[in-house]
Amino acid sequence: MALTEVLNWMLVSTLRSLCRWSLPSRLSHIGAAASFAGVSDAPLQFGDELRRTAKAIAAPGKGILAADESTGTIGSRFKEINVPNTHENRFAYRHLLFNTPNLAQHISGVILFEETLFDKDPKTQQLLVKPLQDAGIVLGIKVDQGTKHLPGTDNETYTQGLTDLDVRCKKYYAAGCRFAKWRAVLRISENTPSPLSIQETAQTLAKYAAICQANGLVPIVEPEILMDGAHSLAICQYWTEQTISACYRALNEQHVLLEGTLLKPNMVLAGKQAPQQATIEQAARATVESLQRTVPPAVPGVTFLSGGQSEEEATVLLNALNAHSLGSRPWALTFSYGRALQKTVLKTWLGKAENVKQAQQALTVRARANGQAALGQYKGDANSASASQSSYVKDYKY
Ligand code: 13P
Repeated sequence: MALTEVLNWMLVSTLRSLCRWSLPSRLSHIGAAASFAGVSDAPLQFGDELRRTAKAIAAPGKGILAADESTGTIGSRFKEINVPNTHENRFAYRHLLFNTPNLAQHISGVILFEETLFDKDPKTQQLLVKPLQDAGIVLGIKVDQGTKHLPGTDNETYTQGLTDLDVRCKKYYAAGCRFAKWRAVLRISENTPSPLSIQETAQTLAKYAAICQANGLVPIVEPEILMDGAHSLAICQYWTEQTISACYRALNEQHVLLEGTLLKPNMVLAGKQAPQQATIEQAARATVESLQRTVPPAVPGVTFLSGGQSEEEATVLLNALNAHSLGSRPWALTFSYGRALQKTVLKTWLGKAENVKQAQQALTVRARANGQAALGQYKGDANSASASQSSYVKDYKY
C-alpha cells in the first residue's frame, strides 16, 4: 500500500470509530432505533415517575430539608448543645422536625439517613417518617457511604457506595423513597481540584445517577466544592464550571434522563479565608453565570447546599439568585439545606421536651424564609442573632 493510501485508511477508520462513539448518547435521548453498539431504545422503566418526582421537589416556593446527617455527624451537632448521641435522642430530634406543623408549605422533600427511614416509635410502632408521607412530602435517602482518600492526590477524596447501590435503591424505593443524594467533595488549593478528582467526581456521580434512575429514584447530583481556602470568587466560579460541566458530560454518556435529576451544587463564593469576600450581588451573578454555562435546561431544579454559610446568608443569597435580573434561569433555583435550616432549631431544642414547640417554630421561620427566597420574595424578616451565626466547619464531613 502506498503511504497516502495508508494515511487515507487511517483517517477513514478514525472517523468511523468517532461516529460510533459519539452517536449513542444522543440516540438514547431521542429514543432512536438501536442500530449502534451500546444503545437501547427501550423506554426507561420509571421515566414518567422520575420526571414527576423531580418536578414536584422543585415546585415553586419549596425546597428540601437535608436531615441526612450520618450517626457521626449528628453526634457532632448534638455535642455543640450537650446532648448525648443516643438512638433515643436522634429519634426525638427527628420526630420534632417531621412533626412540625405545616412543614409541607415550604418543604417538598426531606433527605434521610437510613436509620431514620426505618425507625419506629417504640410505643406505637408508627414509622418516624409517617407524618412526612401523610403531608405529601417526598422521602429522599442519602445513599453515598462517605469519602476516602483518593490515592496519588493532594488530600483529595472519592465517594464510596457504588458496589451494592442497586440493591439498596430497590430497598429504599420499596420503603417509600423517591429520590436519593450522593455527595462528592472537592477542595480548592494550589494543586486542587486535580483533573483526576474532577473526572472521578463526574464518573461516579453519573454511575450513581444511572443506577438510581433504573430503580425509580431521582438522583440529586451533588458535587460540592468546599468553602475552605483563600481563593477569590473568580477562582471558585472557574472550578465550579469545570466540575459541573464534567458532570453533565458524564451524565449524558451514562444515558441519564436529565429531566429526572436535580443538581445540588455549592453557591459560588470566595474562599472562607480569602482576604476579600464578594458582595451578595457579585456572588449571585457568579453563581447564576456558572449554571448558565453548564446546566442544561432539561434539568428541572438546582437545589443548593448551604455549605457553612449562616442561616441568614444562605437565605439572602438564594433570594438574590431569584430576585435580580441575571438573565435566563430555566431551572428552579431553590434550597436543599442541612445546617442552614437546623442551626437555630438545635440551639432552641437543647434536647428538652419542653422546647420542642419553640424549636419547631424556629424551623418554620427558616423554611418560610427560604421558600420566599426561592421565589425572590424574601424581605429579611427572619434574621436573628442565631441565624446570623456562621455554620462553617473547616474540612467539613457530612
Ligand atoms: P449543608 O446545607 O449543611 O451544607 O448540607 C447539605 C447537604 O446535604 C450536604 O450534603
